[in-house]
Amino acid sequence: MIEIRPAKVEDAHEIASVHVSVWREAYFGVMPQAYLESLTPDARAGAWAERLTDPEEPTRTLVADRGGQIVGFCTVGPPRLEAPEGFGELHTINILVTAQHQGLGRRMMAEAARTLRDLGFSALTLSVLRDSPAGRMFYESLGGTLSGRHMDSYDDFELPAVEYRWADLAALLA
Ligand SMILES: CC(C)(COP(=O)(O)OP(=O)(O)OC[C@H]1O[C@@H](n2cnc3c(N)ncnc32)[C@H](O)[C@@H]1OP(=O)(O)O)[C@@H](O)C(=O)NCCC(=O)NCCS
Repeated sequence: MIEIRPAKVEDAHEIASVHVSVWREAYFGVMPQAYLESLTPDARAGAWAERLTDPEEPTRTLVADRGGQIVGFCTVGPPRLEAPEGFGELHTINILVTAQHQGLGRRMMAEAARTLRDLGFSALTLSVLRDSPAGRMFYESLGGTLSGRHMDSYDDFELPAVEYRWADLAALLA
């Protein structure tokens, strides 16, 4: 049984661990290996703790909690991408490999859409690496429409990314 709930500050280190583990697996061969190896839970936990305690933080993070162990998380909020009025953004979704392909991603997208709706948004946009076929097929299977392209900047490299949109959050809420 996996519960999807708002993240708490106590979750910061576990979220960082999931983040690093998923990126190392999902982006192997896509991102420079030295960059992936430089990511560590300890280095990232502080930023998560800040995000989860800052009263002015505009994003919301949800975690997938399996009996006290976090197996996935997602973050939504105001758009960083260019988008028309009413669009919120899914900033990230990461699910541990051991919890993938069991319908959890679909459930988390529904909860993300509900959270955006509660924040006053009516539509959703997101960005995914162009060369991440699993991520792209996931979003396409959920009805996302390819809407743009840009370059994503990391510490000292850039990668091509594509954008998807859902014009109505209702499409994800079911
Ligand atoms: C992409 C991700 C969020 C999907 O979550 P998930 O829990 O595995 O997805 P679900 O089980 O809910 O699958 C929903 C649908 O998406 C599609 N899908 C999911 N993963 C897929 C894959 N690897 N290849 C093709 N289609 C896929 C399927 O159509 C699936 O429906 P089905 O199970 O009825 O066939 C998750 O696998 C993940 O975190 N991957 C690594 C990081 C990543 O790629 N993040 C997204 C880009 S930022």
